[in-house]
Amino acid sequence: MKKLLALLLALAMVFALAACGGSEAPAEEAPAEDAAAEAPAEAPAEVANKDKPLVWFNRQPSNSSTGELDMAALSFNEDTYYVGFDANQGAELQGTMILDYIKANIDTIDRNGDGVIGYVLAIGDIGHNDSIARTRGVRSALGTAVEVDGAINSDPVGTNVDGSATAVVDGTLEIDGKTYVVRELASQEMKNSAGATWDAATAGNAILTWSSSFGDQIDIVASNNDGMGMAMFNGWSQAEGVPTFGYDANSDAVAAIANGYGGTISQHADVQAYLTLRVLRNALDGVDIDTGIGTADDAGNVLSSDVFYYDEAARSYYALNVAVTAENYQDFLDSTVVYAPVSNQLDATAHPEKSVWLNIYNSADNFLGSTYQPLLQNYDDLLNLKVDYIGGDGQTEANITNRLSDPSLYDAFAINMVKTDNGASYTALLSQ
Ligand code: BGC
Repeated sequence: MKKLLALLLALAMVFALAACGGSEAPAEEAPAEDAAAEAPAEAPAEVANKDKPLVWFNRQPSNSSTGELDMAALSFNEDTYYVGFDANQGAELQGTMILDYIKANIDTIDRNGDGVIGYVLAIGDIGHNDSIARTRGVRSALGTAVEVDGAINSDPVGTNVDGSATAVVDGTLEIDGKTYVVRELASQEMKNSAGATWDAATAGNAILTWSSSFGDQIDIVASNNDGMGMAMFNGWSQAEGVPTFGYDANSDAVAAIANGYGGTISQHADVQAYLTLRVLRNALDGVDIDTGIGTADDAGNVLSSDVFYYDEAARSYYALNVAVTAENYQDFLDSTVVYAPVSNQLDATAHPEKSVWLNIYNSADNFLGSTYQPLLQNYDDLLNLKVDYIGGDGQTEANITNRLSDPSLYDAFAINMVKTDNGASYTALLSQ
């Protein structure tokens, strides 16, 4: 009898608990219940993290020594893509932009009149495909490239004032019947002591060191990006009237063209930031991946083929680059404005809010911080995506992966690795 009473009591308690509902439920179950209440009648079954849409951006999963694509990461699931830009086309443009400047200013470019057009080069990251391409683009256009096994050597030379370095050669330029030598006087990877690459402060220090020993020989300053280029411009070359060339078309660099910055390259970050979030939106909506990209969506968003292309085998979208010089810089003064053809708001009923986890490898990166992230923040509203932005320290992958402790809280992921070899650190987390 006693036993029966105890059993009845226990049963009564279970019912009472169930009746008070969410109040005793574990924290993470509460929002699920709320969401269920608001969700349309046929709420989709829960998606496993490994099957959620994933986009890599800005740093393409690849072997940092050979450049070979990491297809395992790029095809992690059927909704995995990469978004970047055409590094080789951009690099060639940068080289040509500098060469064109030399030709147009040949009467004044050789500051000390020694017949040698000397340049220095700031290298971002010797293991980053964009950085490698840009170093090659400059050397190839200026005739200083050395080929090894069919590829241009992209190693830094340190200093090469006497022209004896083996990673580059002296180039020659014939202009108006006169022959000039072109020499890479110095180049260095701009990595700080803590390990962060593309480091503007390091570039600012390098130009001071270089200029104090051979400043009169420097006729051109070239940089793999604007962050480093502007540090050198502000620290030395503007005052000396030495044209300085960067890459990214960050707003401050474009504005500096009015004050003698030689030029930069827009990698169409406005198109890339859109594509980064758009491929996630399309996968979440379960529509054709080309929607709002090559094919107009229901709001009229569409991109034309002169600003991007898709390489299906590599599952990669690439934006095309544009040179920004004294001739057209007025059109590029604000790098954070959305690209007009894809600036239409999506309808919130047809495209309900979804949550995205997105990281930037280094919260101090000039381009990603001053151009790319503000653009993403403009597009996330237009695409009805609620994005959590995580900024890394630029040095260790764990600093970022540690902050993705519960992927099940998100519908999709956008990843910017510290090192392009490290795709598996992220896919392993999503596979758990
Ligand atoms: C940009 C650099 C930036 C790097 C970060 C490149 O595409 O040009 O400025 O530091 O991406 O990965």
